Amino acid sequence: MQVWKDYQAENKDRFLEELLELLRIPSVSADSRFNGDTQRCAEAVKQRLQEAGADKVEVCQTAGHPIVYGEKIIDPSLPTVLVYGHYDVQPADPLELWHSGPFEPVIKDGNIYARGSADDKGQFYMHVKAFETMYKTNSIPCNIKFMIEGEEEVGSANLGIFLEQNKERLKADVVLISDTSMISLDTPSIDTGLRGLAYMEVEVTGPNRDLHSGVYGGAVANPATILAKMIASLHDENNHITIPGFYDKVQELSADERTALNAAPFDEEAYKQDLGIADVRGEKGYSTIERTGIRPTLEVNGIWGGYTGEGSKTVLPSKAFAKISMRLVPNQDWHEISDLFTKHFEAIAPKSVKVKVTKHHGGSPYVTPTDSVAFKAAHEAISTTFGKAPIPVRGGGSIPIVALFEKTLGLKTVLMGFGLDSDNLHSPNEKYGLANYYKGIETIPYFHKYFAELAKK
Ligand code: BES
Ligand code: MN
Ligand code: MN
Repeated sequence: MQVWKDYQAENKDRFLEELLELLRIPSVSADSRFNGDTQRCAEAVKQRLQEAGADKVEVCQTAGHPIVYGEKIIDPSLPTVLVYGHYDVQPADPLELWHSGPFEPVIKDGNIYARGSADDKGQFYMHVKAFETMYKTNSIPCNIKFMIEGEEEVGSANLGIFLEQNKERLKADVVLISDTSMISLDTPSIDTGLRGLAYMEVEVTGPNRDLHSGVYGGAVANPATILAKMIASLHDENNHITIPGFYDKVQELSADERTALNAAPFDEEAYKQDLGIADVRGEKGYSTIERTGIRPTLEVNGIWGGYTGEGSKTVLPSKAFAKISMRLVPNQDWHEISDLFTKHFEAIAPKSVKVKVTKHHGGSPYVTPTDSVAFKAAHEAISTTFGKAPIPVRGGGSIPIVALFEKTLGLKTVLMGFGLDSDNLHSPNEKYGLANYYKGIETIPYFHKYFAELAKK
């Protein structure tokens, strides 16, 4: 549509400036020192939605960080799209590894470098600008609702409650999210799945206090050594997870489905080179694409204990800790898996230590239907603006609230992400391509157009 193209070309620089302003707000949801900034970010999102033309825009307070809601109902008889995104970001540390300040966005080599640039400020803001484009050119084809939350990176606990309490307000025909990746701008793809998550923390206690490692070492269990052994035993020689019952409910794909999945373009040499690794490693019998898409995994996210400061200190620590997460696939249940983990971890502990296992948060996996009107609309929208049909792929990350959209609101989700796996999500030097940002803004109005056409009753 030429009017969209013209409007976006005229406002290109402002679209970018506005995003950079959002990126300057350190809305780190996990760290309470940033609570003021997180609140301020919600207010900024509210203002931007209002300026773009949304009605009934509201910062909805929760027991945690607020949710920003807004809507445009042009005709109640038309289909409604609920756009979901998150304005919160992951902590920026380790700060010393950033080439520029995480909250001082810079443009370099066609990328916007800042925490949250791809995950998810740059991506949800494309929807605000796409909406503005349609509003200002009088061409909104369906009803649109926005729900932008501030706790995605910490498990969306309060959003679950918000869904329960706002079923009427959130009534829609589909949820649209840009918070995933595509293969590349040359090879567009659509994620058709998200993995679930079970996040655990373990504490191993040996002696009742730190000990002199010369006086007591050799005779008393060292919790760091024991923890390392216990963790190492969670995978066998084939990199299968050893927790009894872990794979019981895992949905296996058919040979045809696996062949289709592996047909997606993937250059393992380039992958290794990008990551600086000499070889990949994972569950025997599965490809890298499968290991990160359709198979469950267990990873240590952090491990600590004893002396980690400057220089050395001879000590046998009293305690050692680890944060361990498991990615889950259909039909694994995260509560069940958390319990299996807890039971197993307690069972493998030697008598010389005590273990404490705590469940953090989690979420269910989700697979999007590919025969739905909404998926077709996304497929057509990307085909229109990229000049190429998108390839369906299974994403490895998690957005736990997506399963709840279905359970609580009865809504299916379409994951129309424009980021890249190499955007350094959750890592130093997070980036988002300018071209990805603008391509997203260009593509989203077509989603609404095609969805309105295809979904018309
Ligand atoms: N946007 C990501 C999820 C994602 C990234 C999905 C790339 C597919 C491809 C989201 O913000 C995220 O990081 N989710 C967390 C889960 C959450 C409970 C902390 C994750 O996947 O670790
Ligand atoms: Mn995200
Ligand atoms: Mn994230």
